[in-house]
Amino acid sequence: MCGIIGYCGPRPAAEILVEGLKRLEYRGYDSAGICVRSGGALRVHKRKGKIKDLRAALPDRVDGELGIGHTRWATHGEVNDVNAHPHTDATGRIAIVHNGIIENYAALREKLAEEGYRFVSETDSEVIAHLLASLYDGDLERAVKQAVSLLKGTYGIVAMHADEPDRLVGARNGSPLVLGIGDEEMFLASDVTAIVAHTKQVVYLEDGEVVSITSADYHTTDLRDRPVDKKIEFISWELEEIEKEGYAHFMEKEILEQPESIRRAIQGRLDMEYATGHLGGLNMSRQELLNVERVKIIAAGTSFYAGLVGAYLLESVARIPATAELASELRYRNPVVERNTVYFAVSQSGETADTLYAMRELQRKGARVLGICNVVGSTIPRESDGGVYIHSGPEIAVASTKAFTSQLTAFYLFALMMARMRHMGIESGLSFIHDLEGVPALVSEVLSRRDALVPLARTYAGAGNFLFLGRGINYPVALEGALKLKEISYIHAEGYSAAEIKHGPIALINETTPSLFLVTDDGLRDKVISNMKEVKARAGKVIAIAVDGDDEVDRIADDTFFIPKTHELMYPFLMVVPLQLFAYYSAIELGRNVDQPRNLAKSVTVE
Ligand code: M6R
Repeated sequence: MCGIIGYCGPRPAAEILVEGLKRLEYRGYDSAGICVRSGGALRVHKRKGKIKDLRAALPDRVDGELGIGHTRWATHGEVNDVNAHPHTDATGRIAIVHNGIIENYAALREKLAEEGYRFVSETDSEVIAHLLASLYDGDLERAVKQAVSLLKGTYGIVAMHADEPDRLVGARNGSPLVLGIGDEEMFLASDVTAIVAHTKQVVYLEDGEVVSITSADYHTTDLRDRPVDKKIEFISWELEEIEKEGYAHFMEKEILEQPESIRRAIQGRLDMEYATGHLGGLNMSRQELLNVERVKIIAAGTSFYAGLVGAYLLESVARIPATAELASELRYRNPVVERNTVYFAVSQSGETADTLYAMRELQRKGARVLGICNVVGSTIPRESDGGVYIHSGPEIAVASTKAFTSQLTAFYLFALMMARMRHMGIESGLSFIHDLEGVPALVSEVLSRRDALVPLARTYAGAGNFLFLGRGINYPVALEGALKLKEISYIHAEGYSAAEIKHGPIALINETTPSLFLVTDDGLRDKVISNMKEVKARAGKVIAIAVDGDDEVDRIADDTFFIPKTHELMYPFLMVVPLQLFAYYSAIELGRNVDQPRNLAKSVTVE
């Protein structure tokens, strides 16, 4: 979604802004722009399209040491140069960038238009620039506080005024904003990736807070002008982690990183003496954990599918009733919060609006919500009652891969911990640990076989529709495989329980709609094989992901990719990797933009 960067310091701002926007590209956007104060005036350069288009449109030299930049993901108004940010007031003395949605913009726009303010764009954001102009009396910070008090909706805003050569003002409500503290220079950004090249010292703003920066200083207040003391935090990411390092795409890099990212998610979280998991950040006492009678998981997209695996695991391993639900649905159905229930909000970015608002709704009703998140310092972990960081490192590709397997890891550790506090004996605990610790090496083994997926992707890239079919703990993996394929290759794909095809989807089967089956060596194998035969009987092509040595599956399927044998509960880790790669190679075959697929955003901060 939209990205923000602001710079205040001694260096030429334009290059810092454009480079910061480049680092925000992964969030998904359709236009970009910067505004730099130069010669006492504000100069805006903005363009529909990519950062390279913006860069190409910039004059050879852009002077000025104060500026703001933005990548826009359209919500209000079509994608064009005028609707791109920054937006200015009619005098061109005030400029703003905005992430989020102003819900009462129509009423504000009407009122301001009646007062003579002339609007040029179709965006909700432009209203902020005119509102600031109507309130400005020589103090930008005061004007921002007054203006945002009149806004309804969500915003991360940064504003500048031509008359204030060394000041930017930022405000946040529901859309992240972080301050970066440099050496005689300050940054504002929607996301630390934009500024990590310059500083590792950051301050995360909370909703209702305003930050005012100069190159040498900053202060934070609430909307009523009361000072707010903020903690300075340190970003642990290295710059290299957000660079491709020779890989063709971030997605490829992130898929290949999984043995290491899973290992990191496990690291320091196993207690071998008691054969259990150890998750320090849950903020729950032993007694509170013992009292848990039910687990409910909320999330969106890939994180939701990780939650479905987690729920399956918690029931089968820890014998705790568990369900996963789409956060977007839970929020609006007035959920009943039961006693002794623990909720998990799962989110790679920690900023997904659907998940965040569902979490707040649950907390309002008294629920304890734990986060399973990747981005340290993001909103969900900050507002949750405890949780687990998955430590995948930055995930830049829009299609989530390594975060999924690390989210699974968090659930495996939690399930082990809960099981060991209940019925699971020490021997079974040790055996579970042994299997879990074996996963990274097995994922490496799967990755070493990846070349076999290239011709497979080539063969099926022309398909208009795809079915992904799995059972049991691998059913959510089939859903995830279908999501990956449709996201980045744009091939229509649906995931189902293999058992469900006879209840409808089998009507789609013909020679042009292939089915990809996940077949493990568990109690459901024979049933899945029957489903494969049903598809074959209707001239459907069958691709199987099967376990080494399963010749029967290989005989039935048109194409088979083998994965190594493991404990039946560990297969989701091994099954999902070929699906990620299959989607990746299919997208390449079709010439798609793998890392930034059309219409998608990495961090979905609007509803
Ligand atoms: O950051 P989150 O995990 O909360 O994001 C949730 C979904 O938006 C995300 O998983 C999305 O479905 C991805 N594009 C999947 O690859």
